[in-house]
Amino acid sequence: MRTPIIAGNWKMNKNRAETKSFIEQVKDFSVDGVEAVLCVPYTDLAILKDSLPSQIKIGAQNIHWADNGAFTGEISPLMLKELDVQYVIIGHSERREMFGETDETVNKRVHAAYKHGITPIVCVGEKLEEREAGKTKEIVKEQTEKALVGLSSEQVKQLVIAYEPIWAIGTGKSSSAEDANEVISYIRSVVADQYDQQVANEVRIQYGGSVKPENIVSFLAQSDIDGALVGGASLEPNSFMALVKGAK
Ligand code: G3H
Repeated sequence: MRTPIIAGNWKMNKNRAETKSFIEQVKDFSVDGVEAVLCVPYTDLAILKDSLPSQIKIGAQNIHWADNGAFTGEISPLMLKELDVQYVIIGHSERREMFGETDETVNKRVHAAYKHGITPIVCVGEKLEEREAGKTKEIVKEQTEKALVGLSSEQVKQLVIAYEPIWAIGTGKSSSAEDANEVISYIRSVVADQYDQQVANEVRIQYGGSVKPENIVSFLAQSDIDGALVGGASLEPNSFMALVKGAK
């Protein structure tokens, strides 16, 4: 049995006042049997550490692979640990497309997260032209395999993978639940080939891309979809809570 996980990705949104107001509105909220995570900008992490109720977990949106050093502008796993960060998004398509993230640096960040007890949420997904060229499976296979290089079976069992077709992100145009499930089942088979079926049965795989309270139930009803990585619809407290409830 895989516990569903809903992770909100605020991306580069919310100032301190907005973050405090959000927390105030979700402070008494919890749903049994669903893991809820908020992945917020670095500048909001201390606010979450001080006031987010423990039933909602704290996530970051990136991590560097070194413990410390001359890496201007980067944040180390040790710094995230101090702020009670339990999850970190790694290899989001916005980082791959705009900030030079590669499969190799994704893998380094994944190892760094595990070294410090932070669970990675590794993003994979194809561009529109790759989908149209029939390359979706080829792309997600390569990204998944390279992200996992050198991980133990136990580490992979704890991993969260987010399948996010890039053409569905922030566009209002989500994948159909059936199509998303087909790709996610395929990603699970890639993990089974790289490790074994038992490992693949335990890894949680989310769908991401224009998920909303109105469509969350249809995604979670699928055999292999274990939750969602949600951008825009996680920014508003009622919407975030509805997404978590919808995953039950
Ligand atoms: O990390 C979240 C994804 O990029 C999805 O964003 O829900 O705004 O489409 P979205």
